[in-house]
Amino acid sequence: MKITVIGTGYVGLVTTCGLASLGHQVWAVNRTPAKVRKLEKGQILFYEPGLGSLLKKNLKNRKIHFTTNFKEAINKGNFVFICVGTPPLADGRADLSAVKKVAKDITRYAKKPLMIINKSTVPVGTGRLVEKILAKNSHKFNIVSCPEFLSEGKAVKDFFHRDRIVVGADNKLVAQKVMNIFKKIKTVKMITDLETAELIKYSSNAFLATKISFINEIANFCELVGADVDEVAKGMGLDKRIAPYSLKAGIGYGGSCFPKDVKALKQMAAGNGYEFKLLKAVIKVNNLQRRLVIKKTKEILNNVKGKTITVLGLAFKNDTDDIRESAAIDIINWLNKLGAKVKVFDPKASKNAKKVLNSKIIFCSSPKEAAVKSQLLIIATEWSMFKQLKWPVIKKLMKKPNILDGKNLLDRKTLEKYGFNYVAMGK
Ligand code: UDX
Repeated sequence: MKITVIGTGYVGLVTTCGLASLGHQVWAVNRTPAKVRKLEKGQILFYEPGLGSLLKKNLKNRKIHFTTNFKEAINKGNFVFICVGTPPLADGRADLSAVKKVAKDITRYAKKPLMIINKSTVPVGTGRLVEKILAKNSHKFNIVSCPEFLSEGKAVKDFFHRDRIVVGADNKLVAQKVMNIFKKIKTVKMITDLETAELIKYSSNAFLATKISFINEIANFCELVGADVDEVAKGMGLDKRIAPYSLKAGIGYGGSCFPKDVKALKQMAAGNGYEFKLLKAVIKVNNLQRRLVIKKTKEILNNVKGKTITVLGLAFKNDTDDIRESAAIDIINWLNKLGAKVKVFDPKASKNAKKVLNSKIIFCSSPKEAAVKSQLLIIATEWSMFKQLKWPVIKKLMKKPNILDGKNLLDRKTLEKYGFNYVAMGK
């Protein structure tokens, strides 16, 4: 099939490479010529394991065509995927300006009826809004919602091995045609109406965020009663109705999805006259969880001012260079404000973090360099490389052997054996 994808961010580029790997011809649109030139050479604009090689393979097979030419691209086939960003506005609502611009341009340039498939995370009712914009073109368009559920860091795997594919449309025949694009992927396939598909995406993310805030509250309670949150989560997750995923306690959720989507769903509900009480609490717990790192730091060091503190991890999670809504960034800013000398290391996200962090923050090229003369080392991202560090060597480099494991990544017994004072979250 001939397919057009608008947008080459996480969702757009993974969709482009994934669809090409399924055998489709894909025209991917980015309006910036310099970015298109990079993509044509197989260079991706962010770090995502496995995506670069998949892109190169499909460029070689001539399955992917990058272009800045919106008009030509949308008229290639019958399917147009919208994969543009919907960042949060100041009040928490999703910013739909990019989606609206795409809809307006399709209205202007489409020379035939098309199936417009939205993959961006958009509030319920956006499909109808796009439909309204497109009504100005004389052709008949079918609006479809096909939400994306990929996680950063394992997006390629998520494309081919998904728990479900959801397609929502008024016309079931159209929904089936869109579903056929994914014929080669074996998974549960669900066809719904437009609004339901849009809400499945928000509800899924909000529910996963709720699980994380729930386990973080359990972690805080564990500390009061001497229980171990990781063991509690393990025991809970054995119940198939609960499942073990999104039950890892720590410094709360970050990233480009959960914080934005939870707020957007709360706002969406409010806009429809419904107060989403649970989500209010989910957000509050998540904000407090980041703050808890500062409280624990003060307990360990007494006075933060003038102390050297190492933060390992800047990305909002492992296997990505994405720092959007990263708890690590907030924590570093707070420590800096309190007068600490903060030394940081991340295997992938330093370049992005340099753009937002204060010039006083010291970026290091290895965990060892970051540990020199440090009085406290904080783990802020769950990179697996931090588990493999030579901790006795790190201890020798540090001024005081204090570890605050914000991600419950390390093993207390081992670290205590090496002589560290090990503090975790809910253990
Ligand atoms: C999420 C959803 O998982 C995905 O389905 C959706 O399409 C987009 O949003 P993503 O933001 O890439 O994906 O990462 P995810 O692995 O879900 O983690 C989000 C945040 O929650 C990270 O900051 C992570 O560290 C944190 N987290 C995750 C926890 O604190 N505990 C957990 O158990 C899981």
